[in-house]
Amino acid sequence: TAAETERQKSIAAEAAVAEVQPGMLVGLGTGSTAAYAIAALAARVAEGLSVTTVVTSDRTAVAARTGGIPVRDMAEVSALDLAIDGVDEIDPRFRAIKGAGGAMLREKLVATAATRMIAIADASKAVEALGARPVPVELLAPARAFITASVMRLGGEAVLRVSSGAPVRTDQGNPILDCHFGAIADPAALAAELAAIPGVLGHGLFVTEVDALYLGTPDGLIQRNR
Ligand code: A5P
Repeated sequence: TAAETERQKSIAAEAAVAEVQPGMLVGLGTGSTAAYAIAALAARVAEGLSVTTVVTSDRTAVAARTGGIPVRDMAEVSALDLAIDGVDEIDPRFRAIKGAGGAMLREKLVATAATRMIAIADASKAVEALGARPVPVELLAPARAFITASVMRLGGEAVLRVSSGAPVRTDQGNPILDCHFGAIADPAALAAELAAIPGVLGHGLFVTEVDALYLGTPDGLIQRNR
């Protein structure tokens, strides 16, 4: 049920936020699961926890500031202690697809800069093989047709993300191609191929960034480390 899914998201998020120590610099993810982490961190800040954060999207910045959480400019941050973020899909080797919310470029930056990245998710996100969901690509607008053809050569189908008839723009103002591959046999190879296409600013295939998975399940929380 929807309520059970929300419960799973919130127990995963709360377990991740429990790891935040005073003085840490924490990366805040984007999406409905990350929203539970932001709320849990706001509650700890209200109780006196001293932390600073960087955010992965404009809407996460609003949520953090609304919750009284101090936010720093990521442009001035080269390393952080802990990143907490949701996923669209994650496999048993902690490879993930992210970016249904369009924030994958800054999410990968923050996840990579973090000493530890905890993926938080409900049980529906855990898959045996990635690829039922599309891999989102943020692109330089003039590269759209070229990237679409390049993705086709890689065996995928690129679909421009639209909302109410207009192309969706990321927080950075760029369009998104949702790239459907079906089951992805070699995520690391595909991640490298996508990153090498001129005009690709970033993509939502994460192969090395996730260090831990906190998964809410009907039977409770499962915490796994890489
Ligand atoms: C945002 O761009 C995404 O990467 C999200 O982190 C991801 O889509 C998970 O979102 P939910 O927690 O809402 O499923």
